[in-house]
Amino acid sequence: MSGNKEIPTRPIWLGPARRTVQIIDQRALPHELVIVDLATVDDVIAAIKDMMVRGAPLIGVTGAFGAYLAALNAEGMSGFEHVFKSECERIKSARPTAVNLAWGVDRVCSAVFSAKAHGGRSAVALAEAEAVTEEEVDNCRRIGEHGAALIEEISKKKNGRTVNILTHCNAGWLACIEYGTATAPIYTAFERGVDLHVWVDETRPLNQGARLTAWELGQQGVPHTVIVDNAGGHLMQHGMVDIVIVGTDRSTYTGDVANKIGTYLKALAAKDNNVPFYVALPSSTFDWGMEDGIGQIPIEEREPDEVRYVDGFCDGRICRVRVVPENSNAANYAFDVTPARLVTGFITERGVCRADREDVLRLFPEKRR
Ligand code: MRU
Repeated sequence: MSGNKEIPTRPIWLGPARRTVQIIDQRALPHELVIVDLATVDDVIAAIKDMMVRGAPLIGVTGAFGAYLAALNAEGMSGFEHVFKSECERIKSARPTAVNLAWGVDRVCSAVFSAKAHGGRSAVALAEAEAVTEEEVDNCRRIGEHGAALIEEISKKKNGRTVNILTHCNAGWLACIEYGTATAPIYTAFERGVDLHVWVDETRPLNQGARLTAWELGQQGVPHTVIVDNAGGHLMQHGMVDIVIVGTDRSTYTGDVANKIGTYLKALAAKDNNVPFYVALPSSTFDWGMEDGIGQIPIEEREPDEVRYVDGFCDGRICRVRVVPENSNAANYAFDVTPARLVTGFITERGVCRADREDVLRLFPEKRR
């Protein structure tokens, strides 16, 4: 990484006098560390849309802090309720797939509207945004503990030989504040001394695996190898993957999993080769009102230029090159849905369960209707 700034340990934090929110601009990683100040709802929406911040839990927390900024900027206005509510709705529409965004914003919105006194509404919003953040950190820590047990079990079966884990995209601390979701079990097992190695899917078009997951794992000293997105099936056929662990942007409580485009193909290959396929998620990423993931989860389509061009580090700076013929069209579907039948299990903050309604509701009985 160029520059001499110390690397922050979280991807989001409060700015001076708590009047702004600061983020790592993840578009520049791992080559440059760029910190950006968000002062307004428009700043927050742009940061989410342009993927300076990304990953479902982080989008949720950014949404929560966005709602805080909305309250701060509307405080004292005569039409506070109306302005605050419509600003929250605007934040919620920044990206469609990750359900955490609406969850984070709604948490802050409800806290503000249920506060007894009308004074200090931004203080209420800030307290709730901070609570959301710390809960997500704790959830990821617990996911790490539950998921590490699965890795330790495989290590035991292999008599301590290297456990090979495949992951897709970035579901690490950059996406989730601390620990990550898919990476939390990896970090925990590694700290406990399990001999492991991670296959990191590069994750075109924006290369979150090659840029972010590889960088995170490298910082922690976790052995890893970056592979092209289509290598997973070959590795699984040759016994070179013991377990797949991915994150998710929205999962139905019935077990369907929306995650970064290409996840479905990994799940198919895992099924065909009897490789366990786990999805790690906090409860904020479950959609408790949706049953049919393939039919109902909105799949974001992004700018085709993200496919047509690739960013990289060249001659000491980040530059962009075109990788398709000048006049070729491109399509950019950002997520796909893996049906529940291909998912071995969910790793949640409350434990591991099957990817089906009964077992998910066993862990989260308060969600039964
Ligand atoms: O488009 P992104 O980068 O916001 O997508 C999010 C992801 O990195 C993943 O799909 C991830 O596996 C789930 S978020 C922990």
